[in-house]
Amino acid sequence: MIIAKTVREVREQVAEWRREGLSVGLVPTMGYLHEGHASLVDRARAMCDRVVASDFVNPTQFAPNEDLEAYPRDFEHDCNLLEEHGCDMVFYPSVEEMYVPNAATYVEIQDEMPKQLCGKTRPIHFRGVCTVVSKLFNIVQPDRAFFGQKDAQQLAVIRRMVRELSYGIEIVGCPIVRESDGLAKSSRNTYLSPEERTAALVLSKAVFRGEELVGSGVVDAKRVVDEMTALISAEPLARIDYVSAVDGVTMQPVEVITDGTLVAMAVYIGKTRLIDNFIAGGLK
Ligand code: PAF
Repeated sequence: MIIAKTVREVREQVAEWRREGLSVGLVPTMGYLHEGHASLVDRARAMCDRVVASDFVNPTQFAPNEDLEAYPRDFEHDCNLLEEHGCDMVFYPSVEEMYVPNAATYVEIQDEMPKQLCGKTRPIHFRGVCTVVSKLFNIVQPDRAFFGQKDAQQLAVIRRMVRELSYGIEIVGCPIVRESDGLAKSSRNTYLSPEERTAALVLSKAVFRGEELVGSGVVDAKRVVDEMTALISAEPLARIDYVSAVDGVTMQPVEVITDGTLVAMAVYIGKTRLIDNFIAGGLK
């Protein structure tokens, strides 16, 4: 696997693949990789001739009060996992390589959509995500890019950005990968103490309960959200940021659950903010 630390190295390698007529898939990550990321690489491997993963903790998507410094990092482990899953090149830039000094150009969807759900507590988050992902798209120029459903709002935001900025890139959404007991895989799970790790199971329990209700024909969004909320509230270590049923594209609240409705949550377990969700009728 090629380790590229500069934009130039990535461009030169991708240009060579292009000359050979090969298709390129991009898996953007912030590192500290787990089986969720591996599933994105596997999907990219199956759909593209060459796979590039980026490994970059992007400062512009963290507010000053968030966990940028503490965010877990282990590049050696990441390389091993990527190599095992057949990744061809990892792009591992420094902050200085990605952002010129005093960079002040951002990509932002100026609409209500990124202000809903996670955008309420993380107001600059999606601007940072759109900016870095659009930079990665410009650097790698992939045919396809792969994102997980766990960050369902991020997936919707990126799909919209790609459509509105006419990127000729196919965005492939991939299902949530869970631990054997149900907890959605996340690099932030590492922050949890053993007691919090047990408490964190309320998120997936609530997701499974919500799915069960919808699967049994309940379409009243309030009823589903209320039951999920009650289940989470019964856990003393959990503090709900939001539990919401929204349109899967606009992120606006819905009253009736139909195919494509996103039922999403963010819950603090101690100081760690975790997210989880399900999409009625499954991910399209
Ligand atoms: O989902 C993530 O890990 C990040 O938000 C992303 C898409 C790599 C952008 O930094």
